[in-house]
Amino acid sequence: MIQFLLNQQLRTEHALDPNLTVLEYLREHLSKPGTKEGCASGDCGACTVVVGELHGEEGQERIRYRSLNSCLTFVSSLHGKQLISVEDLKHQGRLHSVQQAMVDCHGSQCGFCTPGFVMSLFALQKNSDAPDLHQAQEALAGNLCRCTGYRPILAAAEQSCCATRQPDQFDSLEPQTIARLKAIAPTAIGELNSGEKRCLVPLTVADLADLYSAHPEARLLAGGTDLALEVTQFHRTLPVMIYVGNVAEMKRIETFDDRLEIGAATSLTDCYAALAAEYPDFGALLHRFASLQIRNQGTLGGNIGNASPIGDSPPLLIALGAKIVLRKGQTTRTLLLQDYFIDYRITAREESEFIEKIIVPRADPARSFRAYKVSKRLDDDISAVCAAFDLHIDNGVIKDARAAFGGMAAIPKRAKACEAALVGQPWNHATLEAACAAMADDFTPLSDFRASKEYRLLSAQNLLRKYFIELQTPHIETRVTAYV
Ligand SMILES: Cc1cc2nc3c(=O)[nH]c(=O)nc-3n(C[C@H](O)[C@H](O)[C@H](O)COP(=O)(O)OP(=O)(O)OC[C@H]3O[C@@H](n4cnc5c(N)ncnc54)[C@H](O)[C@@H]3O)c2cc1C
Ligand code: FES
Ligand code: FES
Repeated sequence: MIQFLLNQQLRTEHALDPNLTVLEYLREHLSKPGTKEGCASGDCGACTVVVGELHGEEGQERIRYRSLNSCLTFVSSLHGKQLISVEDLKHQGRLHSVQQAMVDCHGSQCGFCTPGFVMSLFALQKNSDAPDLHQAQEALAGNLCRCTGYRPILAAAEQSCCATRQPDQFDSLEPQTIARLKAIAPTAIGELNSGEKRCLVPLTVADLADLYSAHPEARLLAGGTDLALEVTQFHRTLPVMIYVGNVAEMKRIETFDDRLEIGAATSLTDCYAALAAEYPDFGALLHRFASLQIRNQGTLGGNIGNASPIGDSPPLLIALGAKIVLRKGQTTRTLLLQDYFIDYRITAREESEFIEKIIVPRADPARSFRAYKVSKRLDDDISAVCAAFDLHIDNGVIKDARAAFGGMAAIPKRAKACEAALVGQPWNHATLEAACAAMADDFTPLSDFRASKEYRLLSAQNLLRKYFIELQTPHIETRVTAYV
């Protein structure tokens, strides 16, 4: 059984197909058609809903509201949370201030994308005090307006979020909602099933390990931003899933003198603050990772677990010498992330083994870490090439070098020949060009719709040149806007 609040109404579900998305649940089971389906692939934001979760120390809890794409969220992941859809915003016959602003500013033209924009504005209003226009743009970057009416929509954001925000019914009901969420906080393993199909929802890492050992055929579900595509785009059925997003130990970030330990189920949004503080370039990359909705639900563990050759965080983590802790039953082992990826979508993970946490070294002032993403659009786009460099240069000589790339091979990979051409050499143009030439021995990239193989190799070489220029002239800040 799973339980959640549909706005203020308690819902208890047990006999539902676990492959059901929140979008389908709202529209087809609850007859709430306000939430729209545009793409069913996380790209358009028409399906945006807001999910509230308890947050903070015992006795001082608040509700944290986040926008999600309901087309990629399975119902089981609502266990213990509050779901708010566009139908819930109007109160006592009056539009919510974000809806009223859309009306006042003529922000709705087709009407189809409008509920998604409204929900993203609502989440922005709830999450930030007087956000600036840049934050508003970021909050809306995952919502597409096909008739290009962004100017009035941004005006609506300015009116309802950037200016003084009006209190709403969610503010006045917050103590009551907190009490309700505490009352339904899961205390045992949840389950949603329909015939043979089931999704299990453990609360502890030990329970997760036991369940996965008992069901090695299960698919692990974290944010679902990759996994749900198998259902919505490829029309497959996932017979058994285990949802890791309620495992508290796997949602923690712990800071030690020499390392950060990030639970694999930590959302990319939550990773941002910790990683950006150590490595500003990691923060810059996370800003360009998909959209806010995807970052709110997608996890760092899922970004590694899907073993995509174009996943954005693996090249950065590999260049930093990050490790992962893999767990199977009671046994754990620690592996350098670079050794996790073996071949296309083949990893060192054994049956019933899962990623428990990611260990990232703290920043070393002697090293220079930079990361670059090349994609066709600045926002909400997958990399053609992603590069990360981490060099230790002492007195003009390169003592150690790690260069890792995504989009250049079947797996995220270090450029070993390039690194060999750097280590022990003076940090000058001749060494740089020798290292760029060596990169041709490291990679034979593919041509696809994102980029040709020639473009990829030249981009990778040019990114090393860009890194060289940035280190020589630190005031130059070109990396964030590196796109085709
Ligand atoms: C519109 C859109 C834009 C995107 N943009 C980007 C982008 O810019 N950059 C990028 O890198 N990716 C992007 N992605 C891909 C995706 O969002 C990320 O890979 C995300 O980090 C996946 O995390 P998740 O928690 O949603 O994973 P899920 O979909 O839940 O899982 C992904 C895979 O990892 C496995 N898994 C999950 N957790 C674990 C674990 N703890 N141990 C072992 N295996 C596990 C799952 O079984 C599954 O096979 C995008 C996706 C969409 C839909
Ligand atoms: S329907 Fe397009 S993002 Fe969900
Ligand atoms: S208002 Fe809906 S696509 Fe522009």
